[in-house]
Amino acid sequence: MSGAPPPGVPPLGVYVHWPYCARICPYCDFNVVRDRGRTAEQAALAEAIVADLRAHRALTGPRRLVSVFLGGGTPSLMQPDWAGRIIQAARGLWDADEALEVTLEANPTDAETDRFRAFADAGVNRLSLGVQSLDDHALAFLGRNHSAAGALRAATAAAAAFDRLSLDLIYALPGQTEAGWARELEAAVALGAEHISPYQLTIEAGTAFDRAVRRGQWAPPDPDLGARLFETTQAILGRHGFHAYEVSNHARGEAARSRHNLIYWRGHDYAGVGPGAHGRLTLDGERFATRTADRVGDYVRQVVETGVGWSGRERLSPRQAAEERLLMGLRTDEGVALAQLAPLGLGADHPAVADLTDAGLVRIGSGRLAATASGRLVLDRITSQLALAQPA
Ligand SMILES: C[S@@+](CC[C@H](N)C(=O)[O-])C[C@H]1O[C@@H](n2cnc3c(N)ncnc32)[C@H](O)[C@@H]1O
Ligand code: SF4
Repeated sequence: MSGAPPPGVPPLGVYVHWPYCARICPYCDFNVVRDRGRTAEQAALAEAIVADLRAHRALTGPRRLVSVFLGGGTPSLMQPDWAGRIIQAARGLWDADEALEVTLEANPTDAETDRFRAFADAGVNRLSLGVQSLDDHALAFLGRNHSAAGALRAATAAAAAFDRLSLDLIYALPGQTEAGWARELEAAVALGAEHISPYQLTIEAGTAFDRAVRRGQWAPPDPDLGARLFETTQAILGRHGFHAYEVSNHARGEAARSRHNLIYWRGHDYAGVGPGAHGRLTLDGERFATRTADRVGDYVRQVVETGVGWSGRERLSPRQAAEERLLMGLRTDEGVALAQLAPLGLGADHPAVADLTDAGLVRIGSGRLAATASGRLVLDRITSQLALAQPA
């Protein structure tokens, strides 16, 4: 069915959401559900995802497929042969790029580590490993079900099984010092991954951490320490040859960058399948946002009853699409083309842009607007200032 796409048709990524987790971490507000071993329900979800991919193919027509991302939740808990079916379905429906990136998010428990080879055989070529910390006290605080030693074992097994390895870390934990974080980062670098994503702990509304902070049980580090920990991250990873191509994403060389995340940050197209997945598609020159039902049962029912997974499909106005470009593009070192911001009335000579340039928070070069190193520390302020600016 794939067929070569006509020239000029935008390439496509596929995001697959697998919501099950062995336990729910106290900081997490992703669309997740406890894995209670209900195999029939999970098999029905895998089937529905494949059917939803077919529905997306009917919508998009032929496209070049550049990425498949199995995210979650914890897709490494999925049976590898289901992952294989989903990957093969996507490859068969669209025109798979020679360098197709197929990423799996994994937690570093021994049970999952034992199945890395099976996932590689199923077509996964990049593993994103949720190490989170290499300190057992920090892992206990984060409510993780693995130890630092388990994370080391998992990283070693992953490096042997997959071509590409990325590590997720969380920092800015209460009581964390710059020296302690520097030691953890050095240990993470020693694991040999080509890509590291250190995320500053965010207290998300409605999570167990949110309730604990509200009750005064503990407090996250103050913003000044948060900024120093961010700078420590940039300095250490930079010294080891990692380039911060996005606020929280560091890659050793161009080829190590996440092709999938670049789709989001560059405003390219992706199909979102699975419960609670978002998608963005350009159809006949217009930009659409898709969204699926959050609950597994609702999503499967939607696919079975209507033949498509999305429950909402909204056309974005040129202004909404440009706001998204601004928000996503400024996260990256390459920034965003000013031409794409025209619907917001923003250009090089707009007073809001000039003010931020004078303040050293953004820079303009080759027709693109990008945040500077100090701008990256206050991205929210920059994007809201620009998005709210009146046309000059
Ligand atoms: C959706 S999780 C999936 C990965 C996998 N289930 C795991 O936990 O390792 C993706 C990443 O988001 C990050 N993350 C999730 N919630 C966060 C929060 N509140 N603050 C900072 N990072 C967070 C973690 O680093 C995590 O690895
Ligand atoms: S952080 Fe990962 S394992 Fe923990 S609840 Fe969120 S998705 Fe699940």
